[in-house]
Amino acid sequence: PPLRLWGGRFAGGPAEALARLSVSVQFDWRLAPYDLLASRSHARVLHRAGLLDDAELTAMLGALDDLSDAVAHGRFRPTIEDEDVHTALERGLLERLGALGGKLRAGRSRNDQVATDLRLYLRDHARQVAARVTELSTALVGLAEQHVETPAPGMTHLQHAQPISFGHQLLAHVHAFARDTDRLRDWDRRASVSALGAGALAGSSLPLDPAGVAAELGFDRAFANSLDAVSDRDFAAEFLFIAALIGVHLSRLGEEIVLWTTREFGWVELDDAFATGSSIMPQKKNPDVAELARGKSGRLIGALTGLLTTLKGLPLAYDRDLQEDKEPVFDAVDTLLVVLPAVTGMVATMRVRRERLAAAAPDGFALATDVAEYLVRNGVAFREAHEAVGQLVAWCVAHDADMDEVSEDDLAVINPLLTADVRSVLSVRGALEARSAPGGTAPARVREQIEALGPVLDRD
Ligand code: ARG
Repeated sequence: PPLRLWGGRFAGGPAEALARLSVSVQFDWRLAPYDLLASRSHARVLHRAGLLDDAELTAMLGALDDLSDAVAHGRFRPTIEDEDVHTALERGLLERLGALGGKLRAGRSRNDQVATDLRLYLRDHARQVAARVTELSTALVGLAEQHVETPAPGMTHLQHAQPISFGHQLLAHVHAFARDTDRLRDWDRRASVSALGAGALAGSSLPLDPAGVAAELGFDRAFANSLDAVSDRDFAAEFLFIAALIGVHLSRLGEEIVLWTTREFGWVELDDAFATGSSIMPQKKNPDVAELARGKSGRLIGALTGLLTTLKGLPLAYDRDLQEDKEPVFDAVDTLLVVLPAVTGMVATMRVRRERLAAAAPDGFALATDVAEYLVRNGVAFREAHEAVGQLVAWCVAHDADMDEVSEDDLAVINPLLTADVRSVLSVRGALEARSAPGGTAPARVREQIEALGPVLDRD
């Protein structure tokens, strides 16, 4: 019969239908290296407690090393008979040690084990996610550096608003991603708690050393309350929030790239390696990377809402519902680790069509605010200036003209405030340079931003 970690009080084996529902080894097997790491610490703590003698500890650590190696090289694999990763690894230990293998389970429960394993896994993988986000930020800044001086249409409501530096727009995305990596760092500080020693829920009657085990496993501290230790999944929910927000940021960048690559915008051309074709339309070049980035945000948000819904209303301490924490977490990690490098590659290789951006920058009367502010600098109340420039725009719309094509006489007829010199501010370059207050789009300020972002990038 298959090995089980329980059974003494049961007359027969589990029903097939129960076993199929209960089994988690098909997804929790990826916790095996972390479970083995925690087992090594637990063996040492049992030795310090006098529950394993020197020879037993040596044999135990040797078997755990051998099992780790077998797991790493695929020589030891779980079978579908193993209920979960902990069961499979106990089987591996018993195969190597016989009865001695059964001593390791003293003072611990799968409840404190799985909570600790998942924290170890997630702290490891959150660092990988952060590294991939940083690479994307670095690619965006690399592109921004080339386009500090490239004027682009700045938009609100997806309508032309005011000209901006295209670099400034790219950097706006970098600031969002920089907050995400900051969140991951901050999250790690709270996630850095070991649950080992909490046992099933109440702590242990054996003289274990949770703080020592926590330190060995690289955690900042051990749990303070054993019930909380086995039932707390805040670290998973909070990670999933950060993952979902990274997804949202990727989807916003993705949506912009989808727009930029349309014929209508034509601001950007994707490298062939980061675009896809159509099975029927030979001419197509599609931004699937950007669309998948946008689409995958849905499943990241789903992972977060799924876990929060699972946690809602759970009584203390451990409930089997908590087994549902793993798949959303693994899926979110996998999703981000596959999306981020693709988006980074797409950004790093896309060609920005500078001339199209520059030509479009003043479109849609985007310099109207500059004219109004020019009048304000000459003592006109903004309310009146706004009105006068609004009349100018209306005149231009009616006559299919640009603001700089209106003659001095026509200006005077439209509104007496519109003297010939208002035309001095009808320059995109001037408009960019004028927005020189801190955080604005003036090229000098954009260069400052790039400088300040240095520490969040992956350079030298
Ligand atoms: N596989 C479970 C989980 O992932 C851990 C086992 C706890 N089982 C139990 N009957 N207490 O949460």
